[in-house]
Amino acid sequence: MHATDFIVARNDLQQCKSIETQLPDAAALPADALLVKITRFAFTANNVTYAVMGDALKYWQLFPAPKDFGNIPVWGFGEVIASKHPNVAVGETLFGYFPMATHLVIEAADVSKRGLRDGAAHRQGVAPVYNAYARVSGDPAFTGKQGDYQALLRPLFMLSFLVDDFLAENDFYGARRVMLSSASSKTAYGLAHLVHGRDGIKVIGLTSAPNVAFVKSLGCYDEVVTYDAVTSLPADSPVAYVDMAGSSELRERLHRHFGDQMKYSGRVGLTHRSTSPEEPELPGAKPSWFFAPDHIRKRAKEWGPGGVDTRFGAAWAGFAPKLDQWLTVTEGRGPAAVQQVYLDTLNGRVPPDQGHILSI
Ligand SMILES: NC(=O)c1ccc[n+]([C@@H]2O[C@H](COP(=O)([O-])OP(=O)(O)OC[C@H]3O[C@@H](n4cnc5c(N)ncnc54)[C@H](OP(=O)(O)O)[C@@H]3O)[C@@H](O)[C@H]2O)c1
Repeated sequence: MHATDFIVARNDLQQCKSIETQLPDAAALPADALLVKITRFAFTANNVTYAVMGDALKYWQLFPAPKDFGNIPVWGFGEVIASKHPNVAVGETLFGYFPMATHLVIEAADVSKRGLRDGAAHRQGVAPVYNAYARVSGDPAFTGKQGDYQALLRPLFMLSFLVDDFLAENDFYGARRVMLSSASSKTAYGLAHLVHGRDGIKVIGLTSAPNVAFVKSLGCYDEVVTYDAVTSLPADSPVAYVDMAGSSELRERLHRHFGDQMKYSGRVGLTHRSTSPEEPELPGAKPSWFFAPDHIRKRAKEWGPGGVDTRFGAAWAGFAPKLDQWLTVTEGRGPAAVQQVYLDTLNGRVPPDQGHILSI
């Protein structure tokens, strides 16, 4: 029997194809290994960023592909179809990081009631979150539409949660306005939802003209401004900037407009894929990457065991119900559908109210 992988050319992301590979023989799996059938996964601009940063952040290393190609990691669900681990049963559902493929072999390690880890040597050079699988069989929070929301948004909302917490801990660097670029993205509106709930802080969404109506409809932005009109914002009081778009040109325009009133400039995403390799010195706070694993480590220490999970769970419980109005889940099956959604996402053709759940 064959497995199928969807792969992209590392140096030209417009080139992509499905390939057939040999499905590992279940009987010949090594001790503790699981053969997992990948049943459904989400695809958003965040996955394109994994490809853009594939070399720099070692994402290509996770799911090996033929020379010069890469398999983009996705968040989703798999079903164990063969198990050589005594405590993991065939039929179990796992939630975590998968390749765009039909199957994955996991070397199960640190198996607990709630989860396990892939101990494969080639997966160890990345943050632990990328090797962790939650055991979610029968969990209603990971079933049906709720499961789709988890795949589409949970990893993104973790970033939203951490940035909100980081800004609040730093009293928003003295700003009472927070600007978010690519305001229509799921990561941005998750953050807008959280910041909007804080007293005295105004959230300003920066977006492209076609997405203005969607961003306004969310109700978690106090103001929505198109990219070409950002210099119409008053520059006479402190402001913080969280950047999902990653456009160097936009960042420079904002910094020059706000000058010393730009109190925080955090980089999070690259949706516009228009970052210059060399950035000029800019007025205001120095732009810096927000590195989520550092903040999570800090809070895990301060909040103690379960502290991050409990707080994140409470935040998610306030956010997830909004998604019924904000998001329409669209399902795609088979290599052709996967390729179409990949190319549409890569080329910015996915309307922001759509969430794609795929399987090969
Ligand atoms: N650093 C981290 O740990 C971390 C964690 C989570 C997410 N992120 C980043 O946050 C960003 C948002 O991810 P997401 O999955 O939330 O995105 P998403 O929901 O798929 O965002 C879609 C939006 O991004 C913009 N966009 C997407 N593709 C584009 C293209 N080709 N050209 C121009 N604009 C495009 C458009 O927004 P506008 O029209 O509003 O610009 C579009 O509505 C990604 O770069 C992701 O990697 C980073």
